[in-house]
Amino acid sequence: MVVTAPQGAGPTGTATDPAADGATVTAGVPAAQLRDPGAAPVVELRGIKKRFGETEVLHGVDLSVRQGEHVVVFGPSGSGKSTLLRSINLLERPDEGSVRVLGVEYGPAPCAPSERGSPMQLRRQVGMVFQQFHLFPHLTALDNVALGLRRAKRMPRPEAYRQAAAALASVGLLRWAAHFPAQLSGGQQQRVAIARAVSLDPKVMLFDEPTSALDPELVGEVLAAMRKLAESGMTMVIVTHELNFAREIGDFNVFMEQGAVVESGGRGFYDQCSSPRTKQFIGAVL
Ligand SMILES: Nc1ncnc2c1ncn2[C@@H]1O[C@H](COP(=O)(O)OP(=O)(O)O)[C@@H](O)[C@H]1O
Ligand SMILES: [Mg+2]
Repeated sequence: MVVTAPQGAGPTGTATDPAADGATVTAGVPAAQLRDPGAAPVVELRGIKKRFGETEVLHGVDLSVRQGEHVVVFGPSGSGKSTLLRSINLLERPDEGSVRVLGVEYGPAPCAPSERGSPMQLRRQVGMVFQQFHLFPHLTALDNVALGLRRAKRMPRPEAYRQAAAALASVGLLRWAAHFPAQLSGGQQQRVAIARAVSLDPKVMLFDEPTSALDPELVGEVLAAMRKLAESGMTMVIVTHELNFAREIGDFNVFMEQGAVVESGGRGFYDQCSSPRTKQFIGAVL
């Protein structure tokens, strides 16, 4: 099944500024981003198959993500959402299929040697935020962000700290820069993790259930930071059960079950989907 992101413009709307600590979610629709039909896809997955031992958990999944698009993947637990997302940066290596990011092949599919890239090269293009925040507990928020810049970008210390501070400011956490993860709420820790990933200047950001580990009252501040990132034009692939947020942000939406795409579609998907199974799932969650 071919899943291609839509090219029609979506509605535009108001922005929400998450800069203040504890910013809450307000109803705002992110501005439609680039919808150039000629734009090359940032991510192009074709025929992705993945087996764990004898069990095939992805049965040949396709997914396209264009520049500036916000693609939502949702579905029941165990349907293969994380495995699919992790295939984009080769945290899981597909057994079959093509993984192209910015036109370069990283998957097992055959291609010309000149089109093939290395996992190192891929990970410089792709940022990821996980359900668990994966911050270093012995480093402050600022040090956590600066470390990535110093290691991955080999940035000199003063420049790394300047950019790390700017990244923390962008998620409203500058005044928490000197705090250690244990001194921060889960929502604040996840915003540090977002700042850390975004500071490395990725071409696409992957989010794997970024709010699932949070107390409900902390979800809003993380969604607000993601909304702000979306409004900045970042290309994003988001696995989430927050379907109200998905409805608001999803330029393209993919419902998965049992290792396959059941149904997908653009804006309006949550009200206009046709598969009874998709409707049933959305009805149970929303
Ligand atoms: N490392 C692994 N080893 C074996 N099975 C795995 C592994 N990771 C995921 N799976 C299995 O693959 C299927 C899809 O998992 P996953 O992609 O995590 O689903 P989701 O993110 O939708 O909950 C599940 O049946 C899960 O048990
Ligand atoms: Mg998962």
